[in-house]
Amino acid sequence: MSSASLTKASHFAPLRWSLLAALGSAGTACGGNAFTDAAGGSGGAGAQAGSGAQAGSGGSGGATGSCRAPKPVLRADGTASGLVQCADGTVHREHAADCTSEVTTCTGDEASVSCASDADCTALPNGRCAHSELDFPPWTQCGCIYPCTRDADCEPGYACLCPEAPGVGPYATCTPTDCRTDADCGSGECGITSYDNGCGAHATMGCRDAARDECRLDSECQERFSCTPQGDHWTCATNDGCAIGRPLLIEGRARTASSAARHDWLDEAALAPELDALSPELRRALAEHWLSVAALEHASIASFARFTLELMSLGAPPELLVASQQASLDEVEHARLAYAVASACAGQHHGPAALRLDGLALATDPAAIVRALVAEACVGETLGAAEARVLATTVAPPGLASVYERIAADEERHAVLGWQTLAWMLQGGAAELRAVALEAFKEARELFSVDPVFSGPRDLACGLLTGAELGALRRASLREVVEPCFQALLADAPQLVA
Ligand SMILES: [Fe+2]
Ligand SMILES: [Fe+2]
Repeated sequence: MSSASLTKASHFAPLRWSLLAALGSAGTACGGNAFTDAAGGSGGAGAQAGSGAQAGSGGSGGATGSCRAPKPVLRADGTASGLVQCADGTVHREHAADCTSEVTTCTGDEASVSCASDADCTALPNGRCAHSELDFPPWTQCGCIYPCTRDADCEPGYACLCPEAPGVGPYATCTPTDCRTDADCGSGECGITSYDNGCGAHATMGCRDAARDECRLDSECQERFSCTPQGDHWTCATNDGCAIGRPLLIEGRARTASSAARHDWLDEAALAPELDALSPELRRALAEHWLSVAALEHASIASFARFTLELMSLGAPPELLVASQQASLDEVEHARLAYAVASACAGQHHGPAALRLDGLALATDPAAIVRALVAEACVGETLGAAEARVLATTVAPPGLASVYERIAADEERHAVLGWQTLAWMLQGGAAELRAVALEAFKEARELFSVDPVFSGPRDLACGLLTGAELGALRRASLREVVEPCFQALLADAPQLVA
């Protein structure tokens, strides 16, 4: 399948009808409105890509100029790292310097041990068998790492970024970039920043250009967006690139558990995807992707648990409580499936560590519940269902499609629950809540209309979409599914998607 066919209108029609039927509106929506297959057209989302990116810039006010008062970034031993920090805190790479990664030798008594010596670490060059630790919960492991030393260790189009660079972590890593040093940029500034795409923070790198860049600092972007290079300029990119389904939002950010070496979260009946034909880099990227998916699915269990309590605070009918409880159980199974796929890709067992719940709040105010319901369920779960449904027809490794099919079917039910709950809360007028819902939908639409940014290998046939592909898929889902449902529910709402 080509990336253009990801946005075929026919992918979205079954989900749209299912949700409209749940809202009791399928007949109305079939009656020649603007969202029929013919009107949608295949590949139509591409036309919105530009406006989506614009929406995400969030009133940045443009770039603020180039680097002022530059200072060299020194290593702990006082030597030059090749990086320069500007007065506004931004960092760029003046010249390439060899990296040193402090590797801690394994003690042998770690909680998880997957290598005995460097000789066991052959998936990539420079393999080291190293000790590492998690702060919370306390956890130690001994496993393979593959730090680079210089740019020549990385493929063309990548730079070896040392631990001193933002977002790199303790070991030097190959990072995709259109510049390796300042000399490669017309502006004389090859910028580096730490960007969290929802799967975790990592370094991103690219030429800054004051004339084209929509932002220079994260503080110029709206909440849940960060300033990062994308294509040929810097833009405000979403921090919610990984969510598939209902996130557990705490204090405005998706909360997930860390990964731990354990085998009790694996769905033994799940597939063992045939991955022998894939490169080590692609297998590693798949393992990281599925670990992120698994962590988000695991967090969805808690999200539904919270939702059940909030429904009770509203005096909800039993059908909604049953559906919410069932959805929570579905998410347990999704997490087990995702950890099974991640473990198969990684070649070692993974499961969730403890989930931190500090800061978790229960909403009892109907307006707050509506806001979260629209963002997490009506938009989040609907996009998750659409994404899984499309990927079920896209992925090539045997067994992976069936995982996406299972997730798509369940996420569709969860989306139905979200829309039916919203319909129940808005029944009988509730003008104030309708206004809240409309505003929440506008915000969620803006958030998900922007292309997320990913680093590392991307492969459509393995379900690793590029940021542009996932952005296009989400915009098509918003236009073909979310918007018609919202119009059906709030017939007098202004049309939000052009
Ligand atoms: Fe879900
Ligand atoms: Fe899920």
